Amino acid sequence: MRAIRDAPGASRNDRGQGSLTAIADLHVDVVENRRFVESLRPAHDDDWLIVCGDVGETMASVEWALATLARAFDRVVWVPGNHELWTYPSDPVQLRGEARYRHLVDRCRALGIATPEDPYPVWTGAGGPAVVAPLFTLYDYSFGRNLAPTKRESLARARAAGVVCSDELVLHPDPHASVEQWCRERVRWTERRLTETAATGLPVVLVGHFPLVAELTAPLYRPEFAQWCGTVATADWHTRFDARAVVYGHLHIPRTTVIDGVPFEEVSFGYPRERRRRVRPVDVPRRILPREAAR
Ligand SMILES: [Fe+2]
Ligand SMILES: [Fe+2]
Repeated sequence: MRAIRDAPGASRNDRGQGSLTAIADLHVDVVENRRFVESLRPAHDDDWLIVCGDVGETMASVEWALATLARAFDRVVWVPGNHELWTYPSDPVQLRGEARYRHLVDRCRALGIATPEDPYPVWTGAGGPAVVAPLFTLYDYSFGRNLAPTKRESLARARAAGVVCSDELVLHPDPHASVEQWCRERVRWTERRLTETAATGLPVVLVGHFPLVAELTAPLYRPEFAQWCGTVATADWHTRFDARAVVYGHLHIPRTTVIDGVPFEEVSFGYPRERRRRVRPVDVPRRILPREAAR
């Protein structure tokens, strides 16, 4: 049984030093969210911004947002969400699956943004040094075990409940045979890189769009959605790779959860209707490092 508890999130840096900050699920195809990105400025010149996936739904809007943020922040680190990987029939860029991901990586590199394909940057500011490891591991439906023992049964239950992620229609795994196979390949490759990183002896901040452990999906209003949220293959990465923090989004439920002594930060910005429902104010972007001054 894991040690798991909710905790208050870190607040913005007020000590006049740069911070490692993070935000997810900007969904800039929504006008209100686009305006937010236009207005977003670092609290300090040295702030880094982790952009934790689901930036937008079309290639043009994703590129616009990343370029805007790259101009505003000293360093931007990006991981893909499921929405960046959607191929909408109306999007002039009809790249699918792996080719779409590689195109996004190329665009990021042109903007100086670190991606899961690049050497992991090291945060040396307050709270560091720590390796910032952007991860792209996708999902394999194994979180669907909250509903049924097999993918087939958990998907059937989701369909019966009318809860089916749009990924089923517009996220294509090409050239991989399935999203699960793509996920398995990503997990294997990422594990190797994290093992090499661990040899440096530096702690890491693990950054992925999808939650690394299934317990984090427990607050979902619709438990059927969990199967599109991650893979059980990453369940011990936070302890195995000495994570100082784990950053994720996708759930649109911003909170801090401590598991095995490691803070898991869900940093989603989300849709306007979701923000209006929140009873507690949420820091956006959230400070990830330094942590000690926030406690
Ligand atoms: Fe999202
Ligand atoms: Fe997502």
